[in-house]
Amino acid sequence: MGGSNPIKLDAASQMQETIVLLPDKTGLSTASAMLQDGQLVAFPTETVYGLGANARNDRAVAQVFEAKGRPSFNPLIVHVADVAAAHKIAQFGAEADRLAAAFWPGPMTLVLPLLPQAMVSPLVTAGLESVALRVPEHPVAQGLLTAFGGPLAAPSANPSGRISPTRAQHVVQGLDGQIGAVIDGGACPVGVESTIIGLLHEPVLLRPGGLPLEAVEECLDRGVPYEALGAAPNAPGQLASHYAPSVPVRLNAHEAVEGEALLGFGPDIRAAALNLSPSGDLVEAAANLFHFLRKLDDEGCPIAVSTIPNKGLGRAINDRLKRAAAPKD
Ligand code: TXA
Ligand code: MG
Repeated sequence: MGGSNPIKLDAASQMQETIVLLPDKTGLSTASAMLQDGQLVAFPTETVYGLGANARNDRAVAQVFEAKGRPSFNPLIVHVADVAAAHKIAQFGAEADRLAAAFWPGPMTLVLPLLPQAMVSPLVTAGLESVALRVPEHPVAQGLLTAFGGPLAAPSANPSGRISPTRAQHVVQGLDGQIGAVIDGGACPVGVESTIIGLLHEPVLLRPGGLPLEAVEECLDRGVPYEALGAAPNAPGQLASHYAPSVPVRLNAHEAVEGEALLGFGPDIRAAALNLSPSGDLVEAAANLFHFLRKLDDEGCPIAVSTIPNKGLGRAINDRLKRAAAPKD
């Protein structure tokens, strides 16, 4: 509500200086100590930067929602160092074990039944009896999880509704003064968030992401349907306008019209302000996506985007672009 709201004033008085840590031994032990102390630390993963909090500390998890300005019905992903740690948090069936063995560590999140003895804050799961779990591969994320020695709740480290950060500097731009620290591990190699697979009943794709759906289907030897967002009561609504630049975004553009900047893909695109991948490589395009959307957003003119093939990482790219283009209210 208004600026006179005492809770807001209180939050403002808690503004702190966000420190940038190096991804070395000292940086990781400082980050781990801050997390033990209940502070928030952003860290790189192979997908995007995560905003980490001790998943067992209610207060720290609550601060994640506050720092992001995120609707609190949206549960967070729990990050652990390895499959053994994951088994202490959720119940794994045969298909979960198969996927974990094939793709962890890596850009895949599994939604599984939460074990009662997992002891994660109910804020992490938004009160659901399921939990989203991921074992990231990035050496800095691995180093931090090992140093910390427990589960870290970590959504993408951006203010709610904004583009996910793929550089430490993006995190600082969005959350400076709201979080304790960010570990600077450079650019995130995958560049889009993890693929989320729901395994509460039959396997479903909840969010296309950095692991191609084709790989998941091949591993399980069956089709994995996309469960339309918000269709099931347990699938937390992802806001339509998510990953949103502040300028209008037009999809499947053949060329830019007057005043637009063209975000191209592939070799046939002329006059692109930026090209996600001149060679037409979807992996390269995913890695560049959020970085380039930010760059064009900063220039302030509407963005026209070329057609991206809807296969492999193209599914995740098109999903994010659709949200970027959704009407903002
Ligand atoms: O790549 C990623 O997944 C990044 C990095 C930091 O790991 N994290 C990320 O987190 O994208 P976040 O919080 O921005 O997205 C988490 C998604 C949300 O859409 C949330 O609704 C869904 O996971 N989710 C979390 N717990 C869930 C649950 N129990 N059931 C269904 N969906 C869940
Ligand atoms: Mg996010």
